[in-house]
Amino acid sequence: MQVITKKSDILQVVEGLKKEGKTIGLVPTMGALHAGHASLVERAVKDNDVCFVSVFVNPTQFNNKEDLAKYPRTLERDTALLTSLGASYVFAPAPEEMYSEEEMQQTFAFDFGGLDAVMEGKMRPGHFNGVVQVVSRLFYLVRPDRAYFGEKDFQQLCIIHYMVERSALKDTFGSLQIIDCPIVREQSGLALSSRNERLSADGKRLAVNISRILFESKDRICSEPCSCADSESAVLTEQQRVIDEVNKIEGLEVEYYEIVDATTLLPARSFNNAIGCITVWCEGVRLIDNIRYK
Ligand code: PAF
Repeated sequence: MQVITKKSDILQVVEGLKKEGKTIGLVPTMGALHAGHASLVERAVKDNDVCFVSVFVNPTQFNNKEDLAKYPRTLERDTALLTSLGASYVFAPAPEEMYSEEEMQQTFAFDFGGLDAVMEGKMRPGHFNGVVQVVSRLFYLVRPDRAYFGEKDFQQLCIIHYMVERSALKDTFGSLQIIDCPIVREQSGLALSSRNERLSADGKRLAVNISRILFESKDRICSEPCSCADSESAVLTEQQRVIDEVNKIEGLEVEYYEIVDATTLLPARSFNNAIGCITVWCEGVRLIDNIRYK
C-alpha cells in the first residue's frame, strides 16, 4: 500500500490506473479508523480493482475550533489497518496541500436543495459546505467509480447523493455511484465513531443508552398493530418520548432528536419511510446515531 500526500501525485497515479482500465473505489475518512470504516474499506476492496482511502481531518467542516483540535489523529495506526484490509492507496494530505488560504476560510457555498436546513445543518452552520467542498475535491482527484459512506452520518449521505445525482455539479461526476453502508455497532449497541475514543469507560456505559432507547422506540412503533397510531401527532409524541428518556439519564443531554422523512429530511407525517436522527452530548463529546422506523 502506498501513502500519497501530494495532489499532483494522486492525479498522476489515477491517470495511470484509468489508462489501464482499472475500476476505482474511494472511502473518504477523517482517520481514527474503527471497524465501521473497516467495513467500508472491505466493501470497496471487494467491488473494485483498486481501493483509495483518504485520511484527512477536514478543517472547513468544523465550525468549532476546539472540536477540530481534539479530533483524534492516528495515521500510523490507520495505515497499518488499511494495509491489512488490502487498500491500495492512502491519500493523507496536509491542510495546506488541499486548500489555499482563501479556501480555508470556508468561502465555498453550495445549494443543498434544502437538505441542510435541518438537524446537523441547523446546529453546525457551514458544516455541510465544508463536507461538500472536500468530498467534491476528492472525487475530482481520485475520479472513483464508486464511493462509500456510512449511514451513521445519514444527513451527510443524503447531501452527497444530492450533489452527485441532482445538483448543478452532477455532470462533473460521470457515472460515479454512491454506496450506502450500514451503521456498525459495538455488541452493546453503541454506534462506532472516532469520537467514542474521547469517552471514558463510564461515558461509554452511559452512551450505550442512546442506541438502547432508539431500538426500544423502533420496537414500540413497529410492533404497533393499529395504523391509527401512525399519524403526525404519534410521530411528535414518540419524538418527545425519546428526548425525555435520554435526558432522564444523568450525563446525557439531547441536542436534537428529529423523526424525519428519509428522502426529504422534512418532519415525518407518519412512520413510513421515517428515520429518527439524534445528537447527544456525553462528557463534552457530541455523539450521533439514527434509527429507521418503517
Ligand atoms: O464522514 C466523514 O468522516 C467526513 O465528513 C468526510 C466524508 C470524510 C468528509 O471529510
